[in-house]
Amino acid sequence: MIIGVLQQKGGVGKTTLALNIAAAYAKEGLKVLLVDADPQGSALTWSSVREAPPLFAVVGMPKPTLHKELPAVAADYDLVIIDGAPQVKELVRSAILASDYVLIPVQPSPFDVWSCADIVALVSEAQQFKPSIAAGFVINRKIGNTAIGRDVKKAFGQFPYPLLKTSISQRVSFAEAAAQGLTVIETAPSSPAAWEIYELTEILKTTTHERTAA
Ligand SMILES: Nc1ncnc2c1ncn2[C@@H]1O[C@H](COP(=O)(O)OP(=O)(O)OP(=O)(O)O)[C@@H](O)[C@H]1O
Ligand SMILES: [Mg+2]
Repeated sequence: MIIGVLQQKGGVGKTTLALNIAAAYAKEGLKVLLVDADPQGSALTWSSVREAPPLFAVVGMPKPTLHKELPAVAADYDLVIIDGAPQVKELVRSAILASDYVLIPVQPSPFDVWSCADIVALVSEAQQFKPSIAAGFVINRKIGNTAIGRDVKKAFGQFPYPLLKTSISQRVSFAEAAAQGLTVIETAPSSPAAWEIYELTEILKTTTHERTAA
């Protein structure tokens, strides 16, 4: 199973979610590979500042040929998570084609939802070549106890992929953990931040399992 955390818009939380989801799966005993497909190399830098033993392997593959090269590498792992690059169309396109499931992080504002049209167009295009690719949106950086606005939810209705029934809140613990090459799963395993990541992971498991079983 290959999950791509992808979005052409920058700074939406691709790397944060990719690392934390990878940690949640690895804690369950899965052999996980995180592929840094972004030339910025944020996930690679994260792993280089880490002093703790690795929970999962991290490799850099910021290549437009990722979809051709990844299957052979992925065969050695239970799960591969791709941390995608922003903007560079060729890299995003290849990462989508490499994925079984595309998780699209979105911040809870209409501007951010509207800007998803670009990634949705790329996923739809990739589905012409690989119809089995599935996709879903997840809200990241939800503020406090606020509900996601009805207008924001409604704005997702224009897209052919579902908004997952969970969201990740804005929490400083994500950045604090990342600064040490860690995840909230490790620094604060019983915190609300970790529980949100566990919940997202559970939903991803159900969604991707349903697809492989279908
Ligand atoms: N849920 C969150 N709570 C608090 N801060 C967050 C959260 N998610 C992401 N951030 C912060 O937002 C910034 C951007 O996040 P991140 O680097 O994960 O986004 P990205 O989509 O990978 O960016 P890029 O497109 O540049 O690769 C970082 O400083 C990160 O710590
Ligand atoms: Mg990133």
